[in-house]
Amino acid sequence: MIKRIGVIGAGQMGSGIAHVCALKGFDIRLADVDQPHIDKGLDAIARNMDRQIGRGMIRPEDKDSAIKRITTATDYKAFADCDLIVEAATENEAVKREIFKKVCEGLVPLMGLVELIRGIATEEETFRTVREVVVKLDKKPVNAEDFPAFIVNRILLPMINEAVYALYEGVGNVEAIDTGMKLGANHPMGPLELADFIGLDTCLSVMQVLHEGLADSKYRPCPLLVKYVEAGWVGKKVKRGFYDYSGERPVPTR
Ligand SMILES: NC(=O)c1ccc[n+]([C@@H]2O[C@H](COP(=O)([O-])OP(=O)(O)OC[C@H]3O[C@@H](n4cnc5c(N)ncnc54)[C@H](O)[C@@H]3O)[C@@H](O)[C@H]2O)c1
Repeated sequence: MIKRIGVIGAGQMGSGIAHVCALKGFDIRLADVDQPHIDKGLDAIARNMDRQIGRGMIRPEDKDSAIKRITTATDYKAFADCDLIVEAATENEAVKREIFKKVCEGLVPLMGLVELIRGIATEEETFRTVREVVVKLDKKPVNAEDFPAFIVNRILLPMINEAVYALYEGVGNVEAIDTGMKLGANHPMGPLELADFIGLDTCLSVMQVLHEGLADSKYRPCPLLVKYVEAGWVGKKVKRGFYDYSGERPVPTR
């Protein structure tokens, strides 16, 4: 029976996971590298819950009790009593290896909230337990074998990378590429806008994981993606990516 969930990383994914799980009544331990990162995650959770209250999706008392269920930490000692830990730290293999080394022993690994990864040594009971939690969170579990980037990112990120190549080679500008994919492929969001939402640094890291992990040149990260990341223009979180988010509406930059 899962009662307490640990979440490592209070960024976009971690804060979202803590938010959903706390509203569903789980006790949450949320960790990040330092207090400012934790505070940023908690602010995002509170802001997003306020938005849900404004839309009548939850009541103010739901927010209050959910927030009370979240405790925070900057180390992993607080995770000893967790029934399940979700790792949602920066997309960097060395960082993740270090985290797993420190916290993994005796814990249930969950490698994705919806994509359930069955590693070569995953116990059937571990897999079933995690699947039950995912179902309790009203999410649909999708089983994936343990390959670089699993299913969604394996398909999504090369498409985003190709959109950046189309921009880089002048096939179309930002607006043309995003509008083309929204209307022509019925995607709710254009690939460049989506890349800004995910974070261009995260997109680049996933492409590097695919490129190195599958040793196939078709996964070569677009030089323009690398250039944006090196410039610090990593998307919506810094108000600058393929769109400029400093005004009221996003404005395409190329
Ligand atoms: N953003 C998306 O849409 C998305 C989608 C699917 C998967 N993911 C995956 O989720 C993970 C997190 O991505 P994100 O977008 O939330 O990134 P993010 O940059 O918003 O947040 C990552 C957080 O991890 C923290 N962190 C770094 N090292 C840590 C450590 N040792 N211990 C605890 N916290 C640490 C960082 O300080 C940061 O707050 C990545 O593996 C990414 O590939 C992200």
